[in-house]
Formats: sequence, C-alpha cells, structure tokens
Amino acid sequence: MNLLDFVRGCTFDDFLLSPQLGIVARRDPGVIDLSTRFSEHVTLSRPVVSANMDTITRAAMATVLAEEGGIGVIDRGFRTGDLAPQLAEVASVKRTQHGVIGDPHAIRETETLDEAVRTMERTHVGTLVVTDEAGRLKGLLTERDARFVPRDQKVCDRMTPLDRLVAHTGAVSLAEAERIMVARKVKKLPLVNADGTVLGLITAKDLIKHRRHPFATRDDQGRLRVAAAVGATGDYLERAVELHRIGADVLVIDIAHGHSQVMERAIQQIRGRLGGVELVAGNVATEAGARFLIERGVNGVKVGIGPGRGCTTRLATSFGVPQVEALVRCRIEAAERVPLIADGGVTRDGSIAGALLFGGDSVMLGNAFAGTSETPGEVVSKSVLMPESQKIVQVPFKVFRGMASITAVRDRLDLEEAEPREVEALGAEGLEVSVPARGSARTVVHEMLKHLCSAISYGGATSLSDLRRRFWAAPDAYLIKLSPASRTESFER
Ligand code: XMP
Repeated sequence: MNLLDFVRGCTFDDFLLSPQLGIVARRDPGVIDLSTRFSEHVTLSRPVVSANMDTITRAAMATVLAEEGGIGVIDRGFRTGDLAPQLAEVASVKRTQHGVIGDPHAIRETETLDEAVRTMERTHVGTLVVTDEAGRLKGLLTERDARFVPRDQKVCDRMTPLDRLVAHTGAVSLAEAERIMVARKVKKLPLVNADGTVLGLITAKDLIKHRRHPFATRDDQGRLRVAAAVGATGDYLERAVELHRIGADVLVIDIAHGHSQVMERAIQQIRGRLGGVELVAGNVATEAGARFLIERGVNGVKVGIGPGRGCTTRLATSFGVPQVEALVRCRIEAAERVPLIADGGVTRDGSIAGALLFGGDSVMLGNAFAGTSETPGEVVSKSVLMPESQKIVQVPFKVFRGMASITAVRDRLDLEEAEPREVEALGAEGLEVSVPARGSARTVVHEMLKHLCSAISYGGATSLSDLRRRFWAAPDAYLIKLSPASRTESFER
C-alpha cells in the first residue's frame, strides 16, 4: 500500500484500525510504555501536550501535564510588550517541585526575624538557609522558628544552627538523599561545597512529590519541565530571551503559517541569541513546510493547518490540509530527524491513537482540555433549557477560544478601546465558544492514557513505539477506510 495515496484528503474519522492479536493486557498505563519525544532533547513518558492557548495552558495546566508525564506550552496570549505575566507562569511551574533546590532563598545570620519573615512572605517559601557574609551555611530558619517571638530578634538566635543539622558535602542523588534523611530522621537536607558554601537544599516534601508522580517530565535538577510559546514578530526575540532565562525548557515559535519568511527570520534571530536552546516551530502541514523548518535547525515541528476546534482558517481562506494527510506527509519528510507534534483536531480519545500512528510523536490538545478546572478564566452560569424535561437549569460554563479569534486578538493587542470595526479589520481566524465547566484535567489525561493503552493492546503491540513500528511496516494490516454509513455506525451515538 502507498500510505500517502491512501490517506490523501482524509482525517481521523475517515478510518478505523483493524484489531490484531492482543499481546498485552488492556488499560494499563502503569505497565505499557508510552514514552516518546516532544522535541529532539526532551523526552516524555506520556505523549500528551496541552496547547498554547490563552483559555487552556497557564501554570496550573502545565503543572498537571508535566506531573502526568506530558508537557504544557504556556501561551503567549498576554498583552504585546508585557513579558512579565508569561514569565511568571513559567517561573511558577519551575518552582512547583524541586529535586534539589539549587539556589535556595537565603538570609544572613545577622539579619532580624522581621526581615526573614518578609523574605518568606515575598518568596512563598517556609525555610530559609542562613549564611554568613561569605555564603557559608550557618543554619536553617523555618516559619515556625519566627512565630510568637519579637521580630527584632536576630536570625542567629532562632535558627537551627549548623552543628544541630544534618548537612551533606557535595552533590547527591535523590535516592541517596532520601536514604540519609530517613536514617537521620530529618525533613531537610542542606548541601554544601567543600568550603562550606551553600550548594543546595533537598526537602522531604519535594521527595514525596517525586514519588507521587513517577512519570513526571523533569529537568536534570528534578524540576517540572515547561514549554513556552513566542511569535515571530513584535516582541518575540526579547520574549524568547527572557523565557529562556527564567527556565523555559523549550521555546515554541508558534504562528499560523510556519512555512514563511517571518518564521525563517525568527528562527535565525532566536538561534543567534540563544544558541542551542531547544526550539520547536510551526505550524506546517506539507513536506516542504516540514523540510523548511528542519533545514533551519529546529528541534521539533508542530503539524496542523486548520484542524483545531477553535479555528476558522479553512472556512476563511480555503487553505489547510486534512490532519491525517498532513501528519503522513510531514512524517515521511521528517523521517526520524526531529519529532513531530500532531496539533489539533482531536475530538475523541480514539483520535489520539490515530494522531500518534499517522505521524505525531506527541499530540497537542486544546479543545480536549477546555472547561477543566486548570484552564484559566471564570466559570459563568448560564440558563439552559433541558430538552427532555423542558426545565431550565443553571449550567456552569467556561470560555474556549481560538488564539486568532477577535476577542483573543483584541486582548493581546490591548484594543479594549478600539472600535469593533477596527478589530474586525485584523481578520479573525478563530472562534469563541462556551463549554461546560468540568473536573480536573488530570482525570481527562488518565482516561486518555487508558484508552491509548487499550489501543496498543488492540493493535497487537507492547508499547507505543512498538505499535508505531508495526503500523508503518504494514499499514494495510491496520487501515480501514470508512464509508459514510460505517462512519455513522462508528462515531455517531
Ligand atoms: P484542538 O482541536 O485540540 O486544537 O482545540 C488546538 C489547536 O488549534 C490551533 N488554534 C487555532 N488555529 N485559529 C487557527 O487557525 C485560531 O484562532 C486558533 N487557535 C488555536 C492551535 O494550533 C492549537 O494548538
């Protein structure tokens, strides 16, 4: 079978996959290996990514995604020129869980408790390392040490001094740190260099979080990973530099038409300033588009022109590529050179397996997370007429909108004062819809992963990468193209 010819003009709901001899138990995300790559140097244990949309991914969503083994991309939908809000979201994810806190907040032993309490309040941490003027560890001061005592007392009078602490000289693995902390019955383990200066701090609280999220996507310091989006015009370069500085693990240059000269300039500029920064770019949907980005040195390519729910590009311009065709075309071009992110068009969990088989190394989701409690935005109650009972009930809703919708563009450009006609002249290519508010994105991810494992079992494979290998080796063993009647039988309930 020529796979590309077979899938031309097709998207997820045009196919079913033919079941194979099952060799693993269904529905077991703890056992079936779902690992993949988001970009060349960033691996994920689960192939799920939350979309950089201002009604989907801020710190809360990115934290859940990283804890569950995926990654979130913090959107750039903040006011143009105002970098601080996006930086704060990235910093918040990076701070959520540490393995080793490399630069713990510190205070001098000669300072007052008043100063210490103010530092704790400002930095939202409950433990400060206490140092002398040379940066050498002298003790630890916790919130409790400063409670119910005059605030003008000196830090050195209330801290737990070094001779009563358990400290470790040099770097240590988290497993070894845990062993020391259990054996010596301490909840905090400061690390020092040979000269006594502070090297880091490990807390029991962070070790517990590590255990609770064994699949989490972490950097080499044990912090959760997070990606952040930038554009290709306006403040993008300064934004990229600052996001990188604050700790964003991957920068995603995200524009509607990634196969373009503005993208080429943006890649060159960002590479020129930030060298080997991990860089994903998109969106594209053709061989030429994927090749264009790969040849310019990106570490990952985002694929999808027009399949997103909040997207009206195809309606507005007649341009776009059905998502399955786009994935196959880009996969054949990219081969294994860089990972692809299948972006948009997932309307049911089954499409996730499709997106990952047809070419995505990971799948980016907007609509699938819309309305969950981790999305930004207010919950608004609306009166809804229930068709069966003819009763009016109050239903909680949240807004989900395309990043090129009129309202999103207006917020980004701070055009609140502008005339509606001026805003419309910007040419919107996105929708705004209300979606019912629902529970946590974590539950949504868990369900998706169970369904993905089930797909791997039906597909006669042992892991996600095994299923992909089998599919690409013999696509005709899997692919069933649907008639209109079989599509109705499959997807209309
Ligand atoms: P889903 O279907 O998961 O897709 O909601 C998410 C993706 O949709 C894209 N997106 C847009 N595309 N106009 C567009 O043409 C828009 O306003 C828009 N907003 C989001 C984007 O790629 C996202 O990841």
